[in-house]
Amino acid sequence: MNQEPRKIAKMIEPQAVVEGAGVRLKRSIGTRALDYLDPFLLLDHFQSKNPADYQAGFPLHPHRGIETVTYLLAGAVRHRDSVGNAGEIGAGDLQWMSAGRGILHEEMPQVRPEGVAGFQLWVNLPAKQKMSAPRYQNLHASEIPVVERDNGVTVRVICGKVDGVSGPITGIVAEPTYLDVALAAGGTFTQAVPRGHSAFAYLFEGEARFGAEDKRIVTAPKLMAWSDGDGIEVRADKNSARFLLVSGQPLNETVARYGPFVMNTQAEIEQTLRELQAGTFAR
Ligand code: CO
Repeated sequence: MNQEPRKIAKMIEPQAVVEGAGVRLKRSIGTRALDYLDPFLLLDHFQSKNPADYQAGFPLHPHRGIETVTYLLAGAVRHRDSVGNAGEIGAGDLQWMSAGRGILHEEMPQVRPEGVAGFQLWVNLPAKQKMSAPRYQNLHASEIPVVERDNGVTVRVICGKVDGVSGPITGIVAEPTYLDVALAAGGTFTQAVPRGHSAFAYLFEGEARFGAEDKRIVTAPKLMAWSDGDGIEVRADKNSARFLLVSGQPLNETVARYGPFVMNTQAEIEQTLRELQAGTFAR
């Protein structure tokens, strides 16, 4: 099915980072080793049962020019924002937020016996969409279709298409794919990925081989950036594995990045900071 299978172009060891008001997480995109995988600006993985690692959360903070995608595996995160949205994301739920011209929000992990685990991905917006109105797509776990293949492969299809099943997240400029793939021991997962799209796999449980001919057994947690090609193959051997497969169309635009703001020029960043100071941002 894959005429030119993709290979691992880069393998990234997630870096320990303290973010927000003191949340310990592992960052693999937005690091020195992988600054930007156009259109993906950041990938954070959080997983802890110790409240001290996460309860300080992410108090009120702004975003402009990007989309933030929060996918929770365990626990709960309460959120509230300047456009009147408020709610809780639970285990298996996902929130795809297009910040556009701006929102102020807080994201607070709740202390639970099971702790908290999940991911936040930042997807860049093209120049023509950076100042668009904020938009939310909230998915409850039960709304995410699950594709079961007979070779020990289970795929939660959040965005993109697997075996004719489309994920519920739509209308995103980067035409992304976002899949949560579980492989039983001995299972093989193959999937077409549009040529020219950036793609990565983030292994967060178990171990697997990434790439049709790659003999290396990769152990979680690790991020693999794929080379170009038309599809990917991942194989689990003696152990099971679970990973995210994410791809998207590169924007090929200049990037001016300052914390939670990602614009095209430094002047746009300065303008954003002036609005923040004047109290007119997201108002
Ligand atoms: Co945020």
